[in-house]
Amino acid sequence: MPLTITIANNGPLKISAEDAAQLELRDHEGNLIPLPEGKNISLCRCGASTRKPFCDGQHSKIGFIGANAAREAADAQA
Ligand code: FES
Repeated sequence: MPLTITIANNGPLKISAEDAAQLELRDHEGNLIPLPEGKNISLCRCGASTRKPFCDGQHSKIGFIGANAAREAADAQA
């Protein structure tokens, strides 16, 4: 199974791989960022996480609206 990135509706980017060794996350300088245990990680897309770059569920508390939903909401108000 390939590496899969799923955009959660109004939530994080969920990244999964059959083999956790396939996952590697690096910062802007190329330094490895330790990953949580498991085959899946969720990267914050809302900017509110206290454990960036990982999602900690804050998106629900702040009412984050993903780009598609935000565009649809704006179109509905126009
Ligand atoms: S997407 Fe979940 S805390 Fe930002």
